[in-house]
Amino acid sequence: MNSDPNSWAHDLSQLYAETWRRLIRGVDDRHAPARHPTLATVNSEGKPQARTVVLRAADQRSATLDIHTDSQSKKVTDLTITPYAALHIWDPSAHLQMRLEAEVNVLTGDDAEQIWEKVPEVSRLSYGISPPPGEPIPTALDYLKNADPASFAVLRLELSCIDALHLGQNHRRARFSRGDNWSGTWVAP
Ligand SMILES: Cc1cc2nc3c(=O)[nH]c(=O)nc-3n(C[C@H](O)[C@H](O)[C@H](O)COP(=O)(O)O)c2cc1C
Repeated sequence: MNSDPNSWAHDLSQLYAETWRRLIRGVDDRHAPARHPTLATVNSEGKPQARTVVLRAADQRSATLDIHTDSQSKKVTDLTITPYAALHIWDPSAHLQMRLEAEVNVLTGDDAEQIWEKVPEVSRLSYGISPPPGEPIPTALDYLKNADPASFAVLRLELSCIDALHLGQNHRRARFSRGDNWSGTWVAP
């Protein structure tokens, strides 16, 4: 019998399944590490920008993830120029690093309406900050929070690649890609 609690990391398909299990847990459990991934994008000068976000949806079948944001935020402007992002998650209890690459579709207006309807009232206040996020203000609290559906955007990340690194007595790293139908390949860690 295998007593290694992380024996899922020994098998490509189990490692892939565990990665998705932990992503999905991030949506449902506010204490799960995948709840707060780091989202990296590229700005108009070609420089990387990284920030913490909340994972709002994860669908394994389409291999897509959703993040909600203010459509006036800098990341949205940057994504309209360079529609690619990377997402990073370190799950310490699983000893698992997940690095995801994605093409990003920015959904706004009618395309985001059904999702906006399900956003709790208190969370809606995060979408519609005035002045827009990142704008200079005279003092720290010189801004207003308005729940404005016109400022709500869903970043839909269509994953192209998942790089999973498991740290154990022997480290194991695999790369899964949409092009390979997510079958995966072991790579040197
Ligand atoms: C715990 C935490 C969760 C956050 N969640 C989100 C989020 O889901 N969406 C978002 O747009 N910003 C979120 N932020 C704020 C971003 O990190 C960032 O400051 C903001 O979106 C502005 O980024 P930008 O100027 O690069 O667009 C979160 C910050 C923290 C600390």
